Amino acid sequence: MKSESTPRGSFGSQLGVILASAGSAVGLGNIWRFPTEVGKGGGAAFILIYLAFIFLLAMPVMISEFVIGRSARSNAIGAFQKLSPGKPWIVAGIMGVLGGFLVLSFYSVVAGWTLHYTIQSALGQLQGGKGTDFGAAFNAFVSDPWQPILYLAIFMLLTHLVVARGIQHGIERYSKLMMPLLLAIIVLLVAFSLTMPGAKDGIRFLLQPDLSKVTPDVVLGAMGQAFFSLSVGLGCLVTYASYFSKETRLVKSAMNVCIIDTMVAVLSGFIIFPTVFSVGISPDAGPGLVFITLPNVFLLSFSEMPVIGYAFALLFYVLLLLAALTSSISMHEICTAFISEHFSKSRRKAAAIVTVICLVLGGFCSLSFGPWKEVTFCDKGIFDLFDYTVTKFLMPLGGLLITLFVGWYFDRKLVEQQLTNDGSIPVRTMKPLLFLIRWVAPFGILVIFLNELFPLFI
Ligand code: PHE
Repeated sequence: MKSESTPRGSFGSQLGVILASAGSAVGLGNIWRFPTEVGKGGGAAFILIYLAFIFLLAMPVMISEFVIGRSARSNAIGAFQKLSPGKPWIVAGIMGVLGGFLVLSFYSVVAGWTLHYTIQSALGQLQGGKGTDFGAAFNAFVSDPWQPILYLAIFMLLTHLVVARGIQHGIERYSKLMMPLLLAIIVLLVAFSLTMPGAKDGIRFLLQPDLSKVTPDVVLGAMGQAFFSLSVGLGCLVTYASYFSKETRLVKSAMNVCIIDTMVAVLSGFIIFPTVFSVGISPDAGPGLVFITLPNVFLLSFSEMPVIGYAFALLFYVLLLLAALTSSISMHEICTAFISEHFSKSRRKAAAIVTVICLVLGGFCSLSFGPWKEVTFCDKGIFDLFDYTVTKFLMPLGGLLITLFVGWYFDRKLVEQQLTNDGSIPVRTMKPLLFLIRWVAPFGILVIFLNELFPLFI
């Protein structure tokens, strides 16, 4: 059933490759999840560990995904079928596509909340009045049966429209438009935030490591965060790399994406912590940080500087929305590329199928905050179950299989050919890179994975 004749798109430029891949990486993971983890993990201490994992574990997986994708020029499942026909490696591809459906479904729920908060802040309604209880307002909103699903549907439709237009006219074009805008907003917000009174304490929190907060759990959390943030382990970057040209430099592109992603994560910390400290709120406020704590901060800053407060709130949620969209299109693409190629469907039809399936699954996730709160499997609601399955199970296991595939199974000469573009560019770091792919990454990932499995079995 697999069709070789379906025309495949390709990225039109090196800048497009980097911005689309960085767009996938930079997302809610950087702006929403990273500051939360930093808050829980002792500020600078967490950041240092996280940086080590980005470059030692997650980047080797990213480069391996690039090698697989460009060698096979196929979707995540087709790539393993092509490179190792009849072998069980295909499991890595199947887990990736399944993970793509799950991650898009729960991610879009949070992206839908972001859309709601963007509109609220644009209308000036986030300002509330003195005494507004943002925690209660947030809980009332997410547990409503219909409203969050409406926003989820609008967000999914936006994602659909980009993916349905194809690689160059959809993903590349919109990434080139949204990523510079996103980076500009970040710089502006950091500048705002650093001038807040009392910002110094937030900066100190980010730069001074508190080693007493570093527990094994924090270390493992940093690994999971590094994977999620770089979008590795699900074959998302296998799919994107299948559209790279012969000239694309894989190692350099991966380095650029890692640097951009890390910069955005750290800068988000510089936006959030100085503001949070400036109004004296605890930095480890958890996942509600950007939907409960920040509106509080905006409210307090509104009272003194209403215009700046308004602009800050609006820009912040627009930033979050743009980041979510450039990531969700990459999740959608994992699934769309597979359905289109495997079942010989046009891109538009394949994209529509993915959108409908994820809309239904996303609806279930959304309801798990309200009327379906009681529906649990292994003590987890549907949203948490999807989140757990992807981030704690499919991503690490996928990353492990991907590095084992490239490091141990795939022909070493072919790997080197991919990394050097057939010998036309020197890769001086080849030896250490291959060492990371063969030994460091799989071993490190195995440690996280066993740790996650262990509590499951006792
Ligand atoms: N990297 C994205 C983020 O930081 C999330 C993502 C996960 C994207 C998996 C694609 C695939 O938000």
